[in-house]
Amino acid sequence: MKLVVTGVSGQVAQSLADRAPPGVTVIALGRPAIDLADPAGIAPALARLDADVVVNAAAYTAVDKAESDRDAAFAVNATGAGAVAGAAQALGLPLIHLSTDYVFDGAKAGAYVETDQPCPTGVYGASKLAGEAAVLAAHPGAVIARTAWVYSAFGANFVKTMLRLAASRDELGVVADQIGNPTSAGDIADGLLQIAANLLARRGDRALAGVFHMTGHGEATWADLAEAVFAASAARGGPAALVRRITTAEYPTPARRPANSRLDCAHLAAVHGVRLPDWRGSVETVVGRLLAPEETKA
Ligand SMILES: NC(=O)c1ccc[n+]([C@@H]2O[C@H](COP(=O)([O-])OP(=O)(O)OC[C@H]3O[C@@H](n4cnc5c(N)ncnc54)[C@H](OP(=O)(O)O)[C@@H]3O)[C@@H](O)[C@H]2O)c1
Repeated sequence: MKLVVTGVSGQVAQSLADRAPPGVTVIALGRPAIDLADPAGIAPALARLDADVVVNAAAYTAVDKAESDRDAAFAVNATGAGAVAGAAQALGLPLIHLSTDYVFDGAKAGAYVETDQPCPTGVYGASKLAGEAAVLAAHPGAVIARTAWVYSAFGANFVKTMLRLAASRDELGVVADQIGNPTSAGDIADGLLQIAANLLARRGDRALAGVFHMTGHGEATWADLAEAVFAASAARGGPAALVRRITTAEYPTPARRPANSRLDCAHLAAVHGVRLPDWRGSVETVVGRLLAPEETKA
């Protein structure tokens, strides 16, 4: 299987290359070869690659910056995503597109299911929601995988930020009134590889298409996640800080985040047979990798 993924330097794209088993070739495409803000170049770039499946993991992911950069966020996350979908459709290629828990406002008491009404609280979420619609309009057989709170050994993420800050501080204030599903990009990659295999094995089967929730099993607040990171780090002699549990009001950000963005992933398990593992074990794995001596890192 030859899988083309957009977002060469992103967490999910790098994790796909990292997790691809023998027999799967991952070609990661980034700027300038493919720029989602320049839709005209997308179809020619994809056409050259003889792909079996396309994964659109590139996105404008700066949640706070998007509040003052609306046009750029929509250009990449809505128009650009739609252009990737249109190109994949024209080439007859299955497409998996990544979306986000931030399409929801957090007002629901329990975990969100795919049929719940989205209502984003910020520009990033609104641009990703517009992207979902653009992708499905251009490519009705596409799979949209909404994920959340992504961390990995690659790129920038909360787990790496916590370890960096703990190297110079004894105590950190971390938000404890937002709840979600921390998700390892490596686990996302494994799930995407299974979905891609399903799309190829059952080509054109619309039962496989549509919106799916795909997050790590189990829930946490950011403070819970930070504590798990520091426990895993301390056990390996790495940096650790005391977590002071604070409220969202004490840590104001330009974008308002949902207080509850837990996603129910039962639909993905039922249709694609994909169940991501519990976030705690995956945090241990990622922290272990980040703290491993340079020469032993794969
Ligand atoms: N990170 C999270 O916590 C999270 C949560 C929920 C959903 N998601 C979704 O999951 C997917 C993957 O996220 P991630 O964490 O892997 O993202 P990431 O690490 O922030 O990487 C995003 C990638 O998109 C690329 N990109 C940005 N603008 C582009 C453009 N105009 N043309 C081409 N590439 C462009 C970036 O390239 P440069 O490095 O060159 O800028 C980068 O490689 C995204 O759809 C995201 O919305 C992420």
